[in-house]
Amino acid sequence: MSFDFDHPPERRGTDSQKWQKYAGRDVLPMWVADMDFRAPPAVIEALQRRVADGVYGYARPVPSQVAAVVETLSQLHGWTIDPEWIVWLPGLVVGLNVTATAAAGPGEEILCLTPVYPPFMSAPRNAGRVPVTVPLAYATASRTWEIDWDALERAVTPRTRAFFLCNPHNPVARVFRRDELEKLAEFCVRHRLVLCSDEIHCDLILEPGLRHIPTGTLGGAIAQQTITLIAPSKTYNIPGLGTALAIIPNADLRRRFVHATQGIVAEVNVLGFTACEAAFRHCEPWRQALLERLRRNRDLVLRAVADTMPGARIEAPIEATYLAWINVADLGLKDPIAHFEAHGVGLSEGRFFGAAPGSHVRLNFGCPESTLREGLRRLHAGAVAAVK
Ligand SMILES: Cc1ncc(COP(=O)(O)O)c(C=O)c1O
Repeated sequence: MSFDFDHPPERRGTDSQKWQKYAGRDVLPMWVADMDFRAPPAVIEALQRRVADGVYGYARPVPSQVAAVVETLSQLHGWTIDPEWIVWLPGLVVGLNVTATAAAGPGEEILCLTPVYPPFMSAPRNAGRVPVTVPLAYATASRTWEIDWDALERAVTPRTRAFFLCNPHNPVARVFRRDELEKLAEFCVRHRLVLCSDEIHCDLILEPGLRHIPTGTLGGAIAQQTITLIAPSKTYNIPGLGTALAIIPNADLRRRFVHATQGIVAEVNVLGFTACEAAFRHCEPWRQALLERLRRNRDLVLRAVADTMPGARIEAPIEATYLAWINVADLGLKDPIAHFEAHGVGLSEGRFFGAAPGSHVRLNFGCPESTLREGLRRLHAGAVAAVK
């Protein structure tokens, strides 16, 4: 089966948040994690059928939609879940915010590993909890971002209540290995921390030799203190449909989580449920084709940065996601984002992920090859101009 990843929909002048940011400017947006590809044909067809119904009342998932989630987790990841464990949400970030309230009290602490997707730090703050960041350690010999176990132990206080994990990790694109996850589980059990595992990128593993290991499959005590967050949104490029899930095996923790949603978290809408089922049930060939495309794009980015961009480097393999974390510290830029925008490419600011000011930018390579090549040409021009 072939799918078209080369002829992008025109997003200029549309409701796209990604493209509106640079409306009226010649800046290619390569920031927010939203791909410039159409959703899979099976999703579009399912939505068209659902829209044609003309009935858009308050929704609840129907059994086939729940079964699609259960079957996908089993087939792709070997994780058997009970449908009772599912709490539907209008987004993953909502899930991080709700977890902050449900897992910790006012002034209590939540750990995470930086650099990390900014809501990992803002969600605790929004709820009056305290984010405690532990930097990932870069191991030069193995070219990997690793958990600094000593620093993690030192960061625990009598007020620590939860650990927010991002796996695969945004932005360093690492897939955590079983031994690391088991050690993390032991750490959370020993310190009685709720482990909130954001696995939104789990179906975007680019390295054929790697597998995603859901935290929920680790066994032992950790399952009873884990909240796993997943969604079809990144993989099938439907983030605007606002559909995500929390999977919480422990009934008491689930009750606390649901309690924290009440009255403030909107319900998932009819189109979100429809798209989620179609994505999980009918889009595996599309996902495989997407992964092929993303691997090609990733290789283009790695080659372009290594071969043509003085002062820029990608420190570690991009094992998953469609995001490249680029070290630009040697360019000595005060404001790398403004600098690269002036050269026509819009990136994400590393500082917001907890990186040192001026040190990193994040590039989204989920786009047609022609767009990517043009973005890389502009990135190159920016790097060359900075070292002059
Ligand atoms: C790790 C991670 N979690 C959550 C989200 C956002 O999820 P949502 O749009 O469902 O709130 C993103 C989006 O980039 C992400 O990378």
